[in-house]
Amino acid sequence: MSTFNFNRLFRKEMADDSIEVENYSADHADILPSIELQSKLVILDPQKVRFLARHQLPGRSPACRLPQVNISPLDLADNAALAAAYQVECAANIEARPNWKGVDEKTRILGWRSDDGWDNRLLGAWDRGQLLGFAASMTEKDTPDTTWVFAWVDPAHQREGVGTALVQAAESASPESATRFVSSAYRADQDEIEPLVRRFVGPLGYEIATTETVVKLHIGSAALSIPQVTDGYEVCTYLNGIPEQFRKQVGQIKGLVDAEAPNGTLGWNPTPVTPEDYTKEMNLWLAQRDTVFESIATDDHGDVVAWTCIVAPTDRALPAQIEGTLVLSEHRGNGLGAAVKIACLREIKQHEATDYVKTSSDDTNIWMQAINANIGFEPAETMAIMQKPRARI
Ligand SMILES: CC(C)(COP(=O)(O)OP(=O)(O)OC[C@H]1O[C@@H](n2cnc3c(N)ncnc32)[C@H](O)[C@@H]1OP(=O)(O)O)[C@@H](O)C(=O)NCCC(=O)NCCS
Repeated sequence: MSTFNFNRLFRKEMADDSIEVENYSADHADILPSIELQSKLVILDPQKVRFLARHQLPGRSPACRLPQVNISPLDLADNAALAAAYQVECAANIEARPNWKGVDEKTRILGWRSDDGWDNRLLGAWDRGQLLGFAASMTEKDTPDTTWVFAWVDPAHQREGVGTALVQAAESASPESATRFVSSAYRADQDEIEPLVRRFVGPLGYEIATTETVVKLHIGSAALSIPQVTDGYEVCTYLNGIPEQFRKQVGQIKGLVDAEAPNGTLGWNPTPVTPEDYTKEMNLWLAQRDTVFESIATDDHGDVVAWTCIVAPTDRALPAQIEGTLVLSEHRGNGLGAAVKIACLREIKQHEATDYVKTSSDDTNIWMQAINANIGFEPAETMAIMQKPRARI
């Protein structure tokens, strides 16, 4: 048992190895580092605190074992709870990615609540009314076997086991249909991904499925000269929705993006988007005050053979995001991938919709990386996608 050097405080060693200190005040905070045992401070009441011994730290076991932390579902109808979650998310993201800038609170909450084909379940970690962190279990209707799991913890409460407990709770709260869990993380580079995987998601059972390089383009300085395409194809760009007659074919192309682009060991199946779901997704973007640019290439029969989509937030300080680009396999090699992308970017430039456009592609997707590099995109961040099979007891 180690020693405290602030003897003037009354301390009691508890049977469970924790130490309870009375007459404690915030003035004593500066001597905390001298407590060899110090690892987790639990405030019992304004003048009484408890120090948990290192081996009592939840670490990789649920933080709800800590007396004060309670993990429970966040009610999507509860404005105050979602506002608190938004604050935690912003603080956690800025801590991990200092240049990060996200959408405003209203837009974010609209996203959580939207009926856009995702089953979103949020869980909060609470310490007597204060939200320490939250997690999301997100399952898309057309891929019920996969639940995306994300966690954000208030930087002041990180490394206390809250994130681990939240991820485990989000996994448990996912629909029965889920057979695997997938998560992703953005960091400056691979060196920052490594410790996150080794110490956080790895011990939770996740393995890296793929890594992607996030690239960004400064629209103002991009040349965007009109590319050559083989005769017989026509490229058109539309704002806030393509004409009805193309929606079914575009939905099929959208459904191929994840399945046909290299994606490590994720192994996505095609998931065609119905015209109804296309409309729902568009309506959400418009409700979030985004501007949606889509370019398609049609062949000489008038069929859609290539597509790309860029969503530009109303706040120009936020980058627009390329949602996906795909050329049907039998039409590849005709310059259509670059053509639809550049057509879309030119429209964005003309509308002065944003300063930067971001996109990412798998690190083995040399074809898309070549197109992006030619356009002038430059590396900005690294993203890792991790997965684990669901363990059934
Ligand atoms: C990732 C995050 C949720 C972890 O929350 P947390 O409450 O600190 O997690 P835990 O306390 O349960 O951590 C468990 C272990 O992972 C380690 N760990 C947590 N985050 C880490 C990081 N960014 N880098 C290195 N190790 C990390 C902890 O130190 C601990 O290891 P230890 O027991 O060896 O000390 C939190 O850092 C966060 O909100 N980050 C920003 C959002 C984000 O990136 N979310 C996606 C993650 S997949």
